[in-house]
Amino acid sequence: MCGIVGVVSNPSAKDIVLTGLQRLEYRGYDSAGIATLNSSGSIELRRAVGKLQALVTETETNPLQSATTGIGHTRWATHGAPTTANAHPHIGHMGKHKLAVVHNGIIENYQELRAELGQLGATFHSQTDTETIPYVIATALERSAETLPQAVHAATQKFRGSFAFVVMQEDQPDVLTGTRRGAPLCVGVGEGANYLASDPLALAGLTSKFIFLEDDDIATITPKGVSILDGKGKPVDRPVKVLDLTTDLAGKNGFKHFMLKEIHEQPAVVSRLLQSYTNPVDLSPVLPLQGLNLAGITHINIIACGTAYYASLIGKHYIEQFARIPVNVEVASEFRYRNPPYQKGGLFIAVSQSGETADTLAALEHAKAAGQNILVFTNVTTSSMARAADAVVDLMAGREIAVASTKAFMAMSVALGLFALQLAGAKGQAAAEILEASRALRTLPAFLSSQIATTKPLEELTEKLLETGSMLYLGRGSLAPIAFEGALKIKEIAYIHAEAYASGEMKHGPIALVDKSLPVVNLATSTDGLFEKTVSNLKEVEARHGQIILVTDAEGIAKLDSASRDKMHLITVPTVPAFIAPMVFTVPLQLLAYLTATAKGTDVDQPRNLAKSVTVE
Ligand code: M6R
Repeated sequence: MCGIVGVVSNPSAKDIVLTGLQRLEYRGYDSAGIATLNSSGSIELRRAVGKLQALVTETETNPLQSATTGIGHTRWATHGAPTTANAHPHIGHMGKHKLAVVHNGIIENYQELRAELGQLGATFHSQTDTETIPYVIATALERSAETLPQAVHAATQKFRGSFAFVVMQEDQPDVLTGTRRGAPLCVGVGEGANYLASDPLALAGLTSKFIFLEDDDIATITPKGVSILDGKGKPVDRPVKVLDLTTDLAGKNGFKHFMLKEIHEQPAVVSRLLQSYTNPVDLSPVLPLQGLNLAGITHINIIACGTAYYASLIGKHYIEQFARIPVNVEVASEFRYRNPPYQKGGLFIAVSQSGETADTLAALEHAKAAGQNILVFTNVTTSSMARAADAVVDLMAGREIAVASTKAFMAMSVALGLFALQLAGAKGQAAAEILEASRALRTLPAFLSSQIATTKPLEELTEKLLETGSMLYLGRGSLAPIAFEGALKIKEIAYIHAEAYASGEMKHGPIALVDKSLPVVNLATSTDGLFEKTVSNLKEVEARHGQIILVTDAEGIAKLDSASRDKMHLITVPTVPAFIAPMVFTVPLQLLAYLTATAKGTDVDQPRNLAKSVTVE
């Protein structure tokens, strides 16, 4: 989603901003812009639609004067189409005060504000909500605020919605002020120069010291240092965290795309989780859950979005099966607004790769305000969700760059499995079953590696999918979430419409779609006791001449009659214990989406319209 970079007191301000924006490209965007404050104190603006290269070209065609202060932005369009006029920074002025602003999030009451500001003489040049921000701040400066931070504080009282923004004021070189509410913003503490960014990655190589702002903090950076006001306008100190971002800067490591690299990293991610979160002697899970009373938990809500939601559905299977505790899994965007009743003894779990997804964060805050214990599974331990939690499980997947999540999904599934086993242990459930599942997890990295290397049958299938407009994915039990995840992946990067259902649901509606042109991907393991049921569903597809793609193991294949088998496209996976089958079955579906997308020539790592971290509701 949108990205912000700001710098003061660095003679390479323009280059730092452009490099920072390039590091944030992976988050998804459709236009970009930069504003610098030149040596005569004037704001200079350059903006362009499309990839960052278009902005770089624009700055080459119309060079900026030298400057030590700059702000930049990658925009993912919400209010207003991706046009140059709607790209950030936006400029606003009242009286003698002229400001440039870059903003992530949404100012929900922007229409009221536009009307109000219009009466004060503001002229809007874009369709964005953002353009109100510099005008509201300039009005505060014009009326009573003595300093930029005071004006920002006054302005934030007027804004509804979520935001992170950075303001630059004309005639005020080497000063930037930024604030946040609901969307991330951090300060990079440098030597002589200081920085603001929506993601520390933008500042990698410039500093390793970061301050993560709390909601409504207002940070002002100058060459001399950083000063922060809290939401009440009082000076406050926030801790400085030291982050090593060198591995985050690693490139594709010889792979054609980050997505493929990340698929290949999955065995190592699982090994790291097992090494960190299991006792090497008895294999028992040892997740860092000291902040929680596991034995006292009576029910669980798991909240997430997208791929994290599907991983959460696998988590539900594990927790209910092993710990025998009821689990509700819900998409975050629905959970908060239905005003769910909470009961004592409830645990609220948020699952999020980024830890910044606006819907999940809002649901978490709702549950926290209601007194629920909060556990967060995230890949970013400095994220807003991690900071709000009673306990945090680090997914240890390493930075995920491709928009389509793969290794984080794998890490979520494994970590939730470990959580279920640890909870089961705390609840006194059968030790033998827990041990058996822990042993199965130990074998997972090797199975994943061999599965990742098995691309031939998928490549053959890819050719058949090139002209396909629609697909169906089916799975039962803990493989139903994998069907959902497989359909999401092929939609996201190969732009093929795909529906996923729990296999048993097919006959309640989607079967109407089945004809000889419809590829139906079925997932079935011989080890979960549900294989025969799935074969019945396969027969229903076969009877209607659907194109069956069956992902199963050798035992499963042996159970099929040869006539049916000959009509199917078979993708073989190893025979594995049911506990790890979801993870093993995930790999061919990731690769199928990847290979189809590359054959179609789509932008695999940054697919159209998508953002990596969705920080708006
Ligand atoms: O960062 P999160 O895990 O909270 O993100 C949730 C979803 O936005 C994310 O999983 C999305 O669905 C991915 N594009 C899936 O590939």
